[in-house]
Order: sequence, then C-alpha cells, then structure tokens
Amino acid sequence: MSQDKPNDQSRMDRIVSLAKRRGFIFQSSEIYGGLNGFWDYGPLGTALKRNLKESWWHDMVAGHDELATPPGAPTPYEMTGLDCTIIMHPQVWKCSGHFDLFHDWLVDCRESKRRYRYDHLQGRWAAHRGKRVFVVTDQSGEDAGPHTVTRAQKFFGLRAKQVEEIEWEGGLVPLATSVAAGAVALAEALGPDAAAPGTLTEPREFNLMFETRIGALAGGDDDRAFLRPETAQGIFMNFKNVLDTSRVSVPFGIAQIGKSFRNEITPRNFTFRSREFEQMEIEFFCRPADSAAWYRYWRDRRWKWYLDLGLTPGKLQLREHGADELSHYSVGTADIEYAFPFLAAGEFGELEGIAHRGDFDLRSHMEGKLVRRDGALVLETGPDGKPRHRGSGKDLSYFDDVTRERFVPHVIEPSAGADRAVLAFLCDAYHEDEVPDEEGKPRSRTVLKLHPRLAPLKAAILPLVKKDGMPEVAVDLYRRLKARMPCMYDEKGSVGRRYARQDEAGTPWCLTVDGQTLADKTVTLRDRDSLAQTRVPIDEIPDLLTGRLR
Ligand code: GAP
Repeated sequence: MSQDKPNDQSRMDRIVSLAKRRGFIFQSSEIYGGLNGFWDYGPLGTALKRNLKESWWHDMVAGHDELATPPGAPTPYEMTGLDCTIIMHPQVWKCSGHFDLFHDWLVDCRESKRRYRYDHLQGRWAAHRGKRVFVVTDQSGEDAGPHTVTRAQKFFGLRAKQVEEIEWEGGLVPLATSVAAGAVALAEALGPDAAAPGTLTEPREFNLMFETRIGALAGGDDDRAFLRPETAQGIFMNFKNVLDTSRVSVPFGIAQIGKSFRNEITPRNFTFRSREFEQMEIEFFCRPADSAAWYRYWRDRRWKWYLDLGLTPGKLQLREHGADELSHYSVGTADIEYAFPFLAAGEFGELEGIAHRGDFDLRSHMEGKLVRRDGALVLETGPDGKPRHRGSGKDLSYFDDVTRERFVPHVIEPSAGADRAVLAFLCDAYHEDEVPDEEGKPRSRTVLKLHPRLAPLKAAILPLVKKDGMPEVAVDLYRRLKARMPCMYDEKGSVGRRYARQDEAGTPWCLTVDGQTLADKTVTLRDRDSLAQTRVPIDEIPDLLTGRLR
C-alpha cells in the first residue's frame, strides 16, 4: 500500500487533503485567498497540537523527577518554565547576533517578479540544436528533475514527443555553488518562472526578522522592534530573575513554548516552513566541565521522546553536524530529522536541533555581540574600536554555594518546532488499509494511527441504533468518560460510517452500545489499529481507558 512507500508527493497531497477535510489545519485567511506561510489549526488540529505541547511540557518539565538521576544523565537536575514576550528590547537581537546574521540569500526574477531563496535553486545544462541554457528549478526532491524538463521543453519550443531531443549535461547541481565555481553565469540561467535567461538578480542578504514599530508616534529608529525569531532569547533575558526567585541551582533547565516569527523567503511544504510557528525550547544551564555529558544526555533524551510517542524509528534520523556546519559559537549540534513524504527518498527534514552553545549566550548579553577569532569568542568591535553592539553590563555569572566557585554556565539547547512535530506525527500516523464493512466485504479506509496521548479524541461512544434505550445508556457512558478525557457521542449514520469518521480523526477507541448492552451491561470496545472488538463491562470502561492513557 502507498503508506509503505516513503517520500511520496501524492501521499503528502492526501495528508494535506485529510488535514483540511477533517479540520486539522486550514490556510490562514482562506476566504481572502490565504496568506503564504501562515496556517490555522481547526478543531481537531488544535487538540492534536495542544496534546503534543502538553506531552512535551509534562515529560520535560512538570512530570520531571528532580530527585532522581534519569538514565544517561550525569546527576539529578531541576526544570522550570517561563512565558516571555514576543517583542523584546531591540538590543537583545543585536547582542544575540540575529540583527547582523539572521539572514538568507535571495534572488529576484526581473521578469516574473518572483523571489527565491538562493540556496534552494538548482539547475542543469540543456542543449538543443546549438542552443544551450542552464535550466533552474525551485522545486525540490523528486519534482526537481521533471520540472527542468518541462522548463527546457518550453524554452526550446518543443512538443512533448520532442523532449527526447534535449541533450542534458550532467545532473542537477546547486545554482549558488555553480555560480561561485564559475561554471554558470547568472546571465545564462533560465529562472524557474522566466521565459528567457538572464532575469535572475545577483543574490542579496535578507534579514528574516519581522520588523514592527512601538508606540503611537512610531517612526524614528528608536521605535524599531522585532517579533522574536526564537523563544530562546526570552529565557536568557530572565536567567538572573529565575535564579534569584526560584532557588534553582545549576544544573537546571528553563523551558518555554511560544510563537516565533521568521519572514521566510519561500515558505513551503505545508506547515514545515511557515512564517509564524511555535517552538518548544529548553535552555539547560550546567557547569562547563559537565557540558559535554549533558549535551549527550539531552540529545538522547529528545530522540527517545519522539520514539516513545510513536514515530516510526526507520523514518527518524539523528544527525550530528560536521565541524563546517556548526554555528560560530557551537561546540556540538545534532539534528533530529524525519523523512517527510514531500522529500525525495533518502532525504530528511529537521524536527529539532540540540545544540551545545557553550557560554556564548550569557556572555553576549553581558559583554555585547561576540565573534569567534582564533578559536576564542571575543567582543566584536567597529572601526572606531568600540563594541559593535553593547551588552547589558549585568553580571549573569553563577555562584556555586557548595564549591564557592563563580562561573558563567554553559548552555545545552534542545530546540523543537511544535508545528513540525505535529506535521511529522500526522504524516507518520497516516495509513490507508482495508477493513471489513458491516457485511464483511473489504472497504478501504484512511486512518490516523496517532499515539493515544496525542489523539484529539480518546474515545467515541456510539449507540448502535437511536432507539430501544441505547442512546440513554450511551449518553450516560459519554458523561462519565467526558469527565476524564476528551471524547464524543455520535449517533448519526451507520455504525460503519461512524467508525470511519473516528478512524480519520485518529480516535483510538470506539465504544458501541448495542442490544447485548441492555442485557448484560457490556459494550463493544473497538481498537482503531488492531480492529479487535472485545466486550467490556460498561462500569470498567472509565478506569480501563484512563489506565491505557497513562
Ligand atoms: N533557538 C534555536 C533555534 O531557533 P532553529 O533550528 O532555527 O533553532 C528550532 O529552530 C526549530 O524550530 C526547528 O528545528 C524547527 O522545528 C522549528 N522551526 C524553525 N523555523 C521554522 C519555520 N520557518 N517553520 C516551522 N518551524 C520552524
């Protein structure tokens, strides 16, 4: 079946269609044509995303046992939480490096007026009857090759059956590296939406932070502010406040879930790259000497979290960054990646990054913007010898009462995207299979095999018919269950159709009240994944399902 074939665009299309049809995810402002890179969560999607965030918060923060040493951790540790503002003092972004460095390279097409991320463009040389052009595509994965064929066919003015006449020189290569190597000039490049070559502009930097103005009399440079592109900085801003008010001691972590904003040049792949999204971030503060061990702990802990919630192991990848990929401050970084269906076979997309950030963040906010020089982090200065961006001057070091030592803690940062995680769990849960209908004939079904903790609804209570006292019994069971977990009552349509609706919503258990219920006070418990149907005493249902959810 199609779910067994990874990296399949048509499968992705069916997932997007289900997400819309069943009210998981809608395009923002859809009645006005939508807004690229912005998404709304519908009733089922809201519940799914909330369950995901609550699972993260419970497993990382609220349910964390501060007295025990978890497997793989060097020692016990404390966890606490924050909820910071989206707009912060502009100096935050100057010292963090986002103001100067948080940019992508973009190119514009003078003809089509479309804009592309330079690093997303790739192309290949095509020739036909002495004419030669470098055909550029903005498509990725398996769509890229066929797109260049269509583009070349149009450029050379060929009919479909003449496509074979095109001579291709080599495979697809990134445009940026080809231009840098002198193998392609932009004048020879046929843009992804252009009719003639030479319409792509030179690449230029584009800062991804959304800008806004503060106050009624906004206008001057002093009013300029930014929507946060990550939640992490709010945590560094409050490091001292948390230390002074909550009696935590190193090692400890501060967690935050919240909205972040990035003015992505080319939002794409459903919610994967959005302009407004939610992050779930932890800044974990530890002694420098222990930081490598804590980095390994968090990398493995976060990897296990996705597996425990049911992501298919074969579709998940833990990738340590090579030295050339590391940020200028990072000592080590690993990405947890998922084989999303919109990617080509063998490609993975980032779900979460776990970074060893050393003392870069706290020092930046004390001293000012730092740069790495000869292997050391030093204050960046301007031509006048003054700091390029001044820090707060506040002391963000930590004093250890036991060892009587003062030091700047090192930071391990597990940084996850809530929307990307929802998308991965949706893609992973999506299955198409066959089930017997009421007459025993095979019927194809679409089912979301979501982990019960994530499922928007945990159970559906269905009276077999709307008479003979069945609805009354079912409503009573519904009320008893609803007090404990999200569930729904449904009496509309055949029981087969009602099962199908719940399968598409990812509801793990259906409880059917039938004639036998009235005689022996048992209901049929149908399991979404195994399709097993067992009779269970009605009074045992609330405890049974509560237990299964734990
Ligand atoms: N504080 C570190 C940080 O923000 P990041 O790798 O830029 O690191 C962390 O972002 C996570 O946030 C990513 O792994 C991804 O899950 C999510 N994320 C980043 N940009 C996103 C976007 N444009 N749309 C959706 N999620 C995004």
